[in-house]
Amino acid sequence: MKKAVRTDFKRILVTAALPYANGDLHLGHLAGAYLPADIYVRYQRLKGRDVLFLCGSDEHGVPIMVTADKEKTSPQAVVDRYHLRNKTAFEAFGMSFDNYSRTSLPLHHETSQEFFRLFHRQGLLREKKEQQLYCEKEKMFLADRYVEGICPNCKSDQARGDQCENCGTWLSQTSLIEPKCKICGTAPVIRETSHWYFPLGDFQSRLEAYVGERDKRDGWKENVLRYCESWFKEGLQDRAVTRDLTWGVKVPVEGYESKVLYVWFDAVLGYITSGKEWAAAQGTRDRWKDYWLSDDTKYVAFIGKDNVVFHCIVFPAMLMAWNDASISRYVLPENVPANEFLNFEGQKFSKSRGWGIDLKDFLACFPADPLRYTLAVNLPEYRDSDFYLKDFQARTNNELADIFGNFVNRTLAFAERQFANRVPQPGHLTDRDRAMLETLRIAPEKVGHHYERYEFRDGLFETMDLARAANKYFNDSEPWKTAKDAPQACATTINICLQIARSLAILFHPVTPGISEKLWRILNIEEHITRAGWDSAGRQHLGVNRPLNKAEILVKKIEHEEIQKVVKSLENNMASTEVKNSSGPTPTNVIKLDDFKKIDLRVAKVLSAERVPKSEKLIKIQIEIGSERRQIVAGIGEHYQPADLVNKLIVVVANLEPAKLMGVESQGMLLAAHGDGKLAIVTLSSEVESGSAVR
Ligand code: 2FM
Ligand code: ZN
Repeated sequence: MKKAVRTDFKRILVTAALPYANGDLHLGHLAGAYLPADIYVRYQRLKGRDVLFLCGSDEHGVPIMVTADKEKTSPQAVVDRYHLRNKTAFEAFGMSFDNYSRTSLPLHHETSQEFFRLFHRQGLLREKKEQQLYCEKEKMFLADRYVEGICPNCKSDQARGDQCENCGTWLSQTSLIEPKCKICGTAPVIRETSHWYFPLGDFQSRLEAYVGERDKRDGWKENVLRYCESWFKEGLQDRAVTRDLTWGVKVPVEGYESKVLYVWFDAVLGYITSGKEWAAAQGTRDRWKDYWLSDDTKYVAFIGKDNVVFHCIVFPAMLMAWNDASISRYVLPENVPANEFLNFEGQKFSKSRGWGIDLKDFLACFPADPLRYTLAVNLPEYRDSDFYLKDFQARTNNELADIFGNFVNRTLAFAERQFANRVPQPGHLTDRDRAMLETLRIAPEKVGHHYERYEFRDGLFETMDLARAANKYFNDSEPWKTAKDAPQACATTINICLQIARSLAILFHPVTPGISEKLWRILNIEEHITRAGWDSAGRQHLGVNRPLNKAEILVKKIEHEEIQKVVKSLENNMASTEVKNSSGPTPTNVIKLDDFKKIDLRVAKVLSAERVPKSEKLIKIQIEIGSERRQIVAGIGEHYQPADLVNKLIVVVANLEPAKLMGVESQGMLLAAHGDGKLAIVTLSSEVESGSAVR
């Protein structure tokens, strides 16, 4: 189906997911939301459109408190450090945000409280009571990560408030035996607490209409639609929007002084704050409203796939709720282009294993543009993709340098040698010249067609294809021969090649702005490249006799030794995290091979899956192990949708004693990796039969 693109708008508002200020950005983050957003924005600016590009740091949430506890410092100190580091790294990468804000700003607290207050005043929020552990010494309710105790199932003494890592059982914190506060070690008591819930379920039909309608107007990506549909199929539930924590935006309601807003409630509103901060810094305090509170705005929210539910369902519902109750009306996302994940050298990025490269470390070794180029070629637009250092070297050397760079270098060398470094006067056009100019004429439209549709890889392929065609044109025209026997023809070739060089500077600008601007300087064009305009890349703009600047190598090749240096630092990284994590096998937990053999690990095929009613965490899964059918219950509901599991080949412990989880029998346990607050189930390629043994 050909995707329509909405054109009846005056402004474009673009946001990119606010990264947590709790760690350094790595290459995977860039491929998810940031690079696509920046390519889109730079393209739209070249098209002459009025664009506002907003981002900032997400500075609340429990993991930031945990980092602060670990480092014996305050959450504010943690976010101050990472906000600055990430902002600096983004700048070095060439992100062209109009504003990079942060959610610990008082302005942001005001924005979030204003939303909460309006919802509360309207009677939209529902208050519910629940039991939670309270530490009398710390005078606080304990988040799940702040409690440990004895597992009621396997009696391990290191079960957490939400799960026992030893036996995998999903727990509620009040079921722990002898619970302890992880901060002070004392025994907490059970207390009743109340929270406010947002009635997401009440918005389901409007949200379904919203997602469906957008599909017709500005083609949402298939992966995004699939996620939304699986949430709708499950049925949307009320969501708690307050938490018993000390770090975050205070809940502006009497009796709730010791509570904060749930981090996702305030995070999505961080985009609005970023707009307000931008407007104030321009000295036009209300200008953010031109973008946020206008029907003439096209709002595009770039994210990674793990953020889909918050941007396609929760945030739009919050904006709908605001719009129902207020005379000011927020614009809803026109599109939410979400990418899948990028792996590094065939494996998932992992902070705890030291696997992957932080952006700032990468940029200490290489310039940003080759990285932007390689990431753009490999964007995980439809499925997970990979970043390989070898590929980075090959793309830089064989494509950026050998195709684009080489074409420009040859052209400039001829202009300097044969035409006193000026644009020569073209003569009579041959069929080849005319064909080349026709290819040039249609190039901006061809590339732009893809960029308008969030097809960044295809747009970039078209751009590189123009450089390829230009190289071929140069070769076929043989200016080294015509320079001697047909100077007029040589002048025509070099004139056309210089025009193409100018066009390539514009068309590559969204992806490699640094290289483009360097070429722009060499071409000695005073007007800023963005003002020159995208469509001008289809025409011949360089006037005859215009003097050029001294040429420089446009793209530097990457040597094998430079790649090796990065490989070494990666190995060091992993070695040092291994040392840090080496609470690994100690004499007390080493087991004999015979012990290991007692565990019957089997490949199982998922036949169907559904959520356990009233549980956000548990999913009931029907599996097939060879010819046998079983039911297992797994605590993976916050990380997977039931529909995602069907037909997957997973690994289960087949001889585990059956257990009941929230009254539902589980006849086995699936294997999953846990780390950095994330969870991934162990899956296998389809070449193995279900029932096969795993050793
Ligand atoms: O997943 C994340 O990194 C979140 N910090 C994204 C937040 S996006 C928006 F809601 F702010
Ligand atoms: Zn246990």
